[in-house]
Amino acid sequence: MSKRGRKALVMGGSKGLGFACAEALARRGCELHLLARSEADLERAAAGLRTDHGVGVGFDAVDITDESALQRVLDALGPCDILVSNCGGPPLGGFESFGLDDWDAAYRSQVRSAVQVCRSLVPPMAQRGWGRVVMIASISVGTAIPGLVLSNSLRPGLLGLARSLTREYAHRGVTANLLCPGLTLTDRLDALIRKNMEVQGKSRDEVIAGMTAAIPAGRLGRPEELGETAAFLAGDGAAFISGQALFIDGGQTA
Ligand SMILES: NC(=O)c1ccc[n+]([C@@H]2O[C@H](COP(=O)([O-])OP(=O)(O)OC[C@H]3O[C@@H](n4cnc5c(N)ncnc54)[C@H](OP(=O)(O)O)[C@@H]3O)[C@@H](O)[C@H]2O)c1
Repeated sequence: MSKRGRKALVMGGSKGLGFACAEALARRGCELHLLARSEADLERAAAGLRTDHGVGVGFDAVDITDESALQRVLDALGPCDILVSNCGGPPLGGFESFGLDDWDAAYRSQVRSAVQVCRSLVPPMAQRGWGRVVMIASISVGTAIPGLVLSNSLRPGLLGLARSLTREYAHRGVTANLLCPGLTLTDRLDALIRKNMEVQGKSRDEVIAGMTAAIPAGRLGRPEELGETAAFLAGDGAAFISGQALFIDGGQTA
C-alpha cells in the first residue's frame, strides 16, 4: 500500500535498524524526519535517502534523553502520521552490575523518550483519524537474555505502552506495535563480532556460528527484513493489528 505523502518520524534513524525502517518507508514515498545525536551521520543518511528515493528528508541532531531539547524538536516538527520509536540499547550487564542511577538512565533512553514522543504525536494522529506507532525493542520483551538485565526489565514496558495506546486509540485509527529483533547485522553488531574475534581468537565465521547456534534460521537477521516489517505495520494493510509484539528473530524465541 502506498504511503506517498505521509510523514514519518524515525528516532535513531541515522544507522542500523532505524535507518532500515527509514529506507523502507522512503521506498514507499514517505516524507521523513530523522533523529540521532551525530549530525554527520544524519547528513549522510538523509542525503542517501533523498538521492535513492526522491523523498523529502529532514533531520535534527538531538539526544533523545534530553527532555527539553527533544521537546523543542517535537514542537517545531508538527504532526506526523508514522512514528518509529528507537534508540541505542542499554548497557550490557547482570543484576549486580548496575546502581540505581544506571536504572534511571536506562529508563530515560528506553522508555521515557518513547513516552515523550508519543505524548506529542499520538493525540494529533487520533484527531486526524490515522496514525501508526512502531517501536523497536528486542527479543528481551519475550525472554530474559542472559547478561542484559536492563533490557529484560525495561523493554517489556514498551509492550505495555503499545497495548495501552491500543486500548485508548485504536478506535480512532491509530495502531501501536513492537518489533522485537533478534541478532541483526547492523554496524553495532558488526563491532561486537570484531571484538569477539579479537577476544576469543576466532575467525569471523566461527564467531558468527557461535552467535547463530540458537537461531533456527541458522543466520543473523538483515536490517532490511526489520525495515520491511516496520513499513508493513505502518501501512493501511495493517490497520487491524495493534498492541502486538512481533519477533523478528529467525525463530530464536519459537
Ligand atoms: N542489532 C541487533 O542485533 C539488535 C538486537 C536486538 C535489539 N536491538 C536494539 O535495537 C535498537 C537499534 O539497534 P541498532 O543495532 O540499529 O543500533 P545502532 O546501529 O547503534 O543505531 C542506534 C541509532 O540510535 C541513535 N541513538 C542512540 N542513542 C541515541 C540518543 N541518546 N539520542 C538520539 N539518538 C540516539 C544512533 O545515532 P547516534 O549514535 O548518532 O545518536 C543510531 O542512529 C537498539 O535499542 C538495540 O539495542 C538491536
